[in-house]
Order: sequence, then C-alpha cells, then structure tokens
Amino acid sequence: MPWSPEADELKRRLVARDAVVGVVGLGYVGLPLAVEQARAGFRVVGLDDNGAKVDQVNRGENYIPDVADADLAAMVEAGRFSATTRYSDLARADVILVAVPTPLTPNKEPDLSYILAVADRIRGILRAGQLVVLESTTYPGTTEEVLRPILETSGLRVGEELFIAYSPERVDPGNAVYHTRNTPKLVGGSTAVCGELAALFYRQSLTEVVQVASPAVAEMAKVFENTYRAVNIALVNEMALLADRMGLDVWAVLEAAGTKPFGIQIFQPGPGVGGHCIPLDPFYLAWKAREYDFSTRFIELAGEINLRMPYFVVEKLQAGLNALRKPLNGASVLLLGVAYKKDINDPRESPALKVMELLEARGARVSYHDPNIPVLRPQASFTRTARSVPLDPERLKAVDAVVVTTDHSNVDYRLVADYAPFVLDTRNVMARRGITGPARIVKL
Ligand SMILES: NC(=O)c1ccc[n+]([C@@H]2O[C@H](COP(=O)([O-])OP(=O)(O)OC[C@H]3O[C@@H](n4cnc5c(N)ncnc54)[C@H](O)[C@@H]3O)[C@@H](O)[C@H]2O)c1
Repeated sequence: MPWSPEADELKRRLVARDAVVGVVGLGYVGLPLAVEQARAGFRVVGLDDNGAKVDQVNRGENYIPDVADADLAAMVEAGRFSATTRYSDLARADVILVAVPTPLTPNKEPDLSYILAVADRIRGILRAGQLVVLESTTYPGTTEEVLRPILETSGLRVGEELFIAYSPERVDPGNAVYHTRNTPKLVGGSTAVCGELAALFYRQSLTEVVQVASPAVAEMAKVFENTYRAVNIALVNEMALLADRMGLDVWAVLEAAGTKPFGIQIFQPGPGVGGHCIPLDPFYLAWKAREYDFSTRFIELAGEINLRMPYFVVEKLQAGLNALRKPLNGASVLLLGVAYKKDINDPRESPALKVMELLEARGARVSYHDPNIPVLRPQASFTRTARSVPLDPERLKAVDAVVVTTDHSNVDYRLVADYAPFVLDTRNVMARRGITGPARIVKL
C-alpha cells in the first residue's frame, strides 16, 4: 500500500521530532517512557486519571524509582513534559502511547477494562494522522480484535489516516543495566505502514527497535517472555522443595549446575513470585489458549508450584521454631522486605504479603522492615495498613524469628545475624555475603 499524505506528514514530524507524544497511564511503565520521549526532544503530554500523580508531575516531582529525579524535573522545567487528567488535551498528540494496567479478574481471567475505558475515551478525540500504540501487557489478539474495532468507530481508515501498533514494555524495575532506553523494543503494526511508523517513532528515542510482522507476534512474545520466567522460577522452586526433603542445599546445587558454560540459565528459588508480570501475565495466554481448545499445562503447573512457596516458608519457619521449642502461635516474627523483589519499592502481589497473612492466621505476631516501603497500604488479601519498623539490636533481640523475604541491598544483614535469635533466609543473602551467625540461620 502506498504511503498516504497523513503517513508522510507523521513521518516528517517524527524525524524532525516536532511531534507531540501523549502517554496514557503514568505508572511504573508510563512515567519512564514519558521522560524518555521528552529527553529525545518530543513535547510530551502525560495523562492519568489519578490527579495526585498529575499534580506531582507538574510540580516536577518524581515517584518512580527507575526515573532519575533530575531528568523528570528538567523536562518539566523546560516545558517539554506536562501532565493532565483531561482526554481532550490528547487531541494535539501525534502519537498516543497507552500504558494502563492489565490485571486479572478474581477468577484469573484477563481484565481489559482499563484498556477498554481508554479506547472509549480516545476514540472521541482521534483525528487523521495519529499513531496509537498499546504498551500494556496482554494476550495475542488484543490490538486487532479489541482495540482496533473501537478506534475504527472514529471513521478513520487504519493504515492511511490512523495508525495502530502494539509494542510491549519490557522494563525490569530495579535493573541497574537495562532500562527503558536500552532494552530492545518490539513493535508490530496493524498494517505495514503502521508498523514502520511505530518503529520509526521508537527509533528516535530508544537504542534498538525490532519490528515484527504483526501486533499478535509482539503480544505473544511479551507473554512468552514472562511465562519463561514463571516456568523457570517454578522449576527451581520445585528443586528447592525436593532438596529440602532430601536434606540437600538447593543453592549449592544450583551454583554447581551454573558452572556449565552452555545450555543452562540459572534462576533463583524464593518465597514465591510477585509483581504485576510474572504471577499474572501467563494467565492471559492460558485464557486465550482455551479459545483454541488448548490447555497451557506449563503455565498452570508453574502457577501451582509458585503459589505453594509461601506455604512452604511458613512450614519451614514452624519447623525452625519447633527445634527451639517455640510454637508459631504467639511467636513474634519480623519479615525483612515486603517488596516483591530486591531494591524496588513495589509490594504488589508480593509473596511476603502472603507469608504475613499465613503467619497471622496461625497466631504469629508479624511486623516488617523494608527501607523502601515505609508504609504498606491495604491491597488484595492484605487488609490493613502497616508501617516498617526500625531495624535495631533491641528489636532484633526481642523477636523470635526474622524471615528474609526480600534481599534488598540496603539492609544491615550483619546486624540481623548479630542480634536475632533465629533467621529463615528465603533468598540465601546471608550465605552470599559470607554471614554465618551467631544467629541460627536456616536457608530455604
Ligand atoms: N511494572 C512493570 O514492571 C511492568 C513491566 C512491563 C509491562 N508492564 C505492563 O504495563 C502496563 C502498566 O503497568 P504499570 O506497572 O505501569 O501500572 P501502574 O499501575 O503503575 O500504572 C498505570 C497507571 O494508569 C493509570 N490509569 C488507569 N486507568 C486509567 C485511565 N482510564 N485513564 C488514564 N490513566 C489511567 C493509573 O492511575 C496508573 O497511574 C500493564 O499492562 C503491565 O502489565 C508492567
């Protein structure tokens, strides 16, 4: 298909970087993306229905750890990045990126309500010459089967007047090496022209762009990546359960296996999986597979094993206390780390919350210390507000056990080993740091 005048004009603006970029959803994904686009020279309008976040952005205040405070402040100061709650402000955007949540419903089915709500709002402000890219993680088919039909009700012809693509965000919160700019970006367009325009757009700001044949290829690649992690984490978690039964140190086994220079990639066991990707995204694929009479058994199995881990942590703690002639009922337990992984401040779906819930149900008195999460607000099955307690000798001496649930770098593990009577280390952080005692330390 030849390039339409609208496609030519958009291309010109992208290359000249005088296009306006709209980013819908200023969360963990959207905010870094918006800052990156502004740094590349585009004028950026961020839209979020959370007025508090919008106000923070407009004051130049950062609230996402992966964004450098100075970068955000500089872009706002320079007038290149502003935020709004009004969809009408997106009418002037040449490119609209959508990064809203894609959770699961209570019975583990895809919840596309956020994408649907956004699609419904933006179709009213669409005009010829705009590129809309969905970045939210979702099942293969969402862009073409769900988003495109809604946007087409604008009357604009896709590939000529309106351009649609899917490009998954692959950000790994807390990763010191790979971030929004230098993580290769997959792009699949609804038509060839859509794909080329979307790839051209991302090439203006990101190090590497990989164009694939369709939105569905990019959608499935993204959920496959997260499924790969979920399955491999489940595999080492199962090894941890077996090693425990056999009286073997699973960490030593994995370290030994990891010396093979080819054909293996070692994942780490732990108290379970958390965050908004690994525990949830594979179920998007499992749900879609059922439409094709296909059952994704690896996904189900991985989910089952990973969900078992918090229960195993509680059993292991109970056994450890038992050896000290202490019941779990009435014990004082300090959880070290409630973020779902190290060095981030995100507690969503964190296995630590499940461990906390299970311990409290068995009569333990649970507190937590997490330097990155001073206040833990109610979420999912965690129904109260809790505050991080200071980590000091008196408190450590007073508890019956410490459970290392997250291996943050900014925690004084030496202090823990010096004063706590008993430590259950689900991350092997003590051994990795060569810390042996005097506390009695048991590993997962
Ligand atoms: N967090 C990650 O590490 C990560 C990594 C890769 C992909 N993803 C995917 O990216 C997507 C976004 O995830 P996130 O972690 O950034 O979520 P988030 O909750 O941090 O941010 C989403 C933002 O969207 C806003 N929002 C919700 N509905 C809206 C609406 N109708 N209009 C405007 N704004 C709206 C929310 O207020 C919130 O600020 C999800 O699909 C997620 O699976 C996340």
